[in-house]
Amino acid sequence: EIYYATSTGPVNIATLKYWGKRDKDLNLPTNSSISVTLDQANLRTLTTASCSSKFDNDQLWINGATYPLDGARSKQVLADLRSLRKEVENENSSLPKIATFPLHIVSENNFPTAAGLASSAAGFAALISAVARLYKLPTDASELSKIARKGSGSACRSLFGGYVAWEMGDLANGEDSKAVQVADKKHWPDMKAAILVVSDMKKDVPSTSGMQLTVHTSDLFQHRIKEVVPKRFIEMKKAIIEKDFPTFAELTMKDSNSFHSVCLDSYPPIFYLNDTSKRIIKLINLLNESAGKIIAAYTFDAGPNAVIYYEEKNEKYVLGLLHQFFSHLGGWESSSFDPKNAVIP
Ligand code: DP6
Repeated sequence: EIYYATSTGPVNIATLKYWGKRDKDLNLPTNSSISVTLDQANLRTLTTASCSSKFDNDQLWINGATYPLDGARSKQVLADLRSLRKEVENENSSLPKIATFPLHIVSENNFPTAAGLASSAAGFAALISAVARLYKLPTDASELSKIARKGSGSACRSLFGGYVAWEMGDLANGEDSKAVQVADKKHWPDMKAAILVVSDMKKDVPSTSGMQLTVHTSDLFQHRIKEVVPKRFIEMKKAIIEKDFPTFAELTMKDSNSFHSVCLDSYPPIFYLNDTSKRIIKLINLLNESAGKIIAAYTFDAGPNAVIYYEEKNEKYVLGLLHQFFSHLGGWESSSFDPKNAVIP
């Protein structure tokens, strides 16, 4: 007999960045972070988890290609899920004993895996919710977020939808390092995100090793985690609850800048932004200046691609300018496109 269940995991993009681990085995962060969950219609991982005594070993398929599930992180995630299943089986003796059966995990992304779009977060979140469903585990998302965190830090924020905070916690065993929902999607239905794929190449420095380098070599990093982020964490949650877009947007842009500054302050330095990314930053600033208030925010993860947040009522204005910029890309250098002359609809 084969047992199976299906679930999805959304992509989340941090507006207050997780960068730095205090424990790299348990993925415990040096600061709390906040993210916005993107719409699953456009970006999601769809995963079916199945298990059977007939399977040979644990196995993963992503968009048709096979991967062994033998990495330390994946093994930890599966071990945690299995031990929860054993508890469920012990409490309810009528349930089949499937906790030790090999698992087959079949995943499909509806976006290019290589585009640097936090695919590991959606992937781990989908895997965990599919296995939780298969195992009939109690579905407390914050509890599951602790397992997701061990797979990939940012994955713990992909189990909720809406606006999510990952509370760093301070226990050595990580039991208080979990994600919680700040507000659901309906709370601020006007919020929109546009992804500008500047490059679909694999990232320069993977986030796991990049953050270790920053923790060990950047002096500025200490200032970021002690002074800057704790205050910003409180302010950003408040801005979300109050649907205060200008404050939310300013904090988001400043935190992206702060994260890329500690990357530059690492030794040797880490560069994630390229010239196109920097032009997007200038363009968004120009847009906000010309609007007389902040109506758009940029943020960049460990790569050159931009995510732009804006409110739906300003969509024409924001996307109109971005469209003009991109349709002139390449011409910028030769000054055929000057953002100051852009016709803003
Ligand atoms: C810049 O979650 O990919 O996107 O925990 O090592 O798997 P690991 O790192 P990961 O790092 C994400 C870094 C970031 C910021 C963020 O998502 O908060």
